[in-house]
Amino acid sequence: MSDLQDAVSRRRTFAIIAHPDAGKTTLTEKLLLFGGAIQLAGAVKARGEQRRARSDWMKVERERGISVTASVMNFDYDDRTFNLVDTPGHEDFSEDTYRTLTAVDSAVMVIDAAKGIETQTRKLFEVCRLRDVPIITFVNKMDREARDPFELISEIEETLAIDVTPASWPIGSGRDFLGCYDLLRDQLILMDKRQGDVASQGVKCEGLDDPKLDELLPAHAVATLREEVEMARGLCPEFDLESYRAGHLTPVFFGSAINNFGVQELLKGLGELAPPPRPQPADGRMVEPDEPKVTGFVFKVQANMDPNHRDRIAFFRLCSGHFRRGVKLKHMRSGKLLAVNNAVLFLARDRELAEDAWPGDIIGIPNHGSLRIGDTLTEGEDLRFTGVPSFAPELLQRVRLDDPMRVKHLRKALEHFAEEGASQVFKPMLGSDWLVGVVGQLQFEVLAARIEAEYGIAARFETASVDAARWIECEDPVEMKRFVDSNRANLAEDHDGALVFLSRNTWHMNRTQEDFPKVQFLKTREQN
Ligand code: G4P
Repeated sequence: MSDLQDAVSRRRTFAIIAHPDAGKTTLTEKLLLFGGAIQLAGAVKARGEQRRARSDWMKVERERGISVTASVMNFDYDDRTFNLVDTPGHEDFSEDTYRTLTAVDSAVMVIDAAKGIETQTRKLFEVCRLRDVPIITFVNKMDREARDPFELISEIEETLAIDVTPASWPIGSGRDFLGCYDLLRDQLILMDKRQGDVASQGVKCEGLDDPKLDELLPAHAVATLREEVEMARGLCPEFDLESYRAGHLTPVFFGSAINNFGVQELLKGLGELAPPPRPQPADGRMVEPDEPKVTGFVFKVQANMDPNHRDRIAFFRLCSGHFRRGVKLKHMRSGKLLAVNNAVLFLARDRELAEDAWPGDIIGIPNHGSLRIGDTLTEGEDLRFTGVPSFAPELLQRVRLDDPMRVKHLRKALEHFAEEGASQVFKPMLGSDWLVGVVGQLQFEVLAARIEAEYGIAARFETASVDAARWIECEDPVEMKRFVDSNRANLAEDHDGALVFLSRNTWHMNRTQEDFPKVQFLKTREQN
């Protein structure tokens, strides 16, 4: 096996999806703890606090107690290298989350054992399904009053229409939660609350009839376990790797992240079951991860991480090849060559210069605005990765300035944020007021705060008489011209110069669609 193939086979790039409060932060922290990437639980939060304290615009985030920015954490466990891509859980930031999911090969879905599938879990799951991202489920908070495991399993099965199979089976719940029986390895893993951060070793059993179980567990607990496992095995499909990797079946682990319980099993499960970097779709062909030449795409841009420098970090997912510091990559959108000398790898506690990186890894490339979401970089070949989407904004507002002299500055700020993917900006064909579109209301507040903090401009967002935005495409140039000529007052350009139709209400949208049946009104657009 070549070094490249070896590195590919050991990489696991994944994201955690969860409804807020299900325990994503706690689980992330524990994964890093077991991965040896951090010494103390609480470090993720502490790091977050420091970062927040440095950055003014994040005040909004702090006040609302939500995590706005996604980041990447690289750690090793059991001879595997994991890249955990964090996704913001708050629903107002789902667009960023959607794009983040284009950069991972699998996902862990965290569910609160008392609440089951919640709205945001379902939305994020649907995005994973669109791309056939395989999902491992972690039912968290088993140390609290939890719902019956059978009930949870059928809820997942029914609401998400996916096959479900338990990978472990909980013994009791709440105060009586004793541990889990590992169904894939036939072993018992008991919970040791006193051991704190040290994980207990599992006790190997020869199946459920092993008398060791009777020695280790109270009689009623063993009886229930035997009965429930027999039922579960009868009712649920057997675990099937292919079906999981195709996104049709999810194995379920039970645990309690706060007590470190079930976390190691989950990590082992990810290492053994989750797929290594998958082939990525580009125009014309699929790019295999063990191709020798470097290719990859930008899925996220974060601007102004340090307000004193207008620097930006482009988060670049490597799709193939062995990246070495200094490698010259072709930026497909501009055709220019880029010598990548100062890219960083995101370790859990720190960043370090990326000397080497392999497919599945995510590196941060500092730049001054040349790299945008959706951009492809290659070691020479002309290809573009597809599938990094822009979503039509669900809310549109007009932006107003207190000081009209600063209009140019405001435009620059809005363009920066649009390039970062934080919002979309539309320049109407007629009139001078720009419109800003976002997916969730909270983003307007974040934007206003950032415009003030990072550009020193006081701006307000006001209601606009616009209800929806749709990208326009039409294969027939004559029809396109007829459409543009008769809708000039409702047309705008986005920051890339793509044509957008702004409707006043549903009736207006439907009517225009009926009048121009050859014109397509698109809710999503691929970047570039
Ligand atoms: P999130 O990132 O998905 O929003 O969730 P987070 O990890 O912040 O967890 C939400 C709350 O649930 C936190 O409590 C956390 O301590 C608690 N929690 C997480 N995992 C478990 C678990 O396995 N068992 C129990 N009992 N609780 C769990 P909080 O009171 O909101 O915050 P904090 O004061 O503990 O930080």
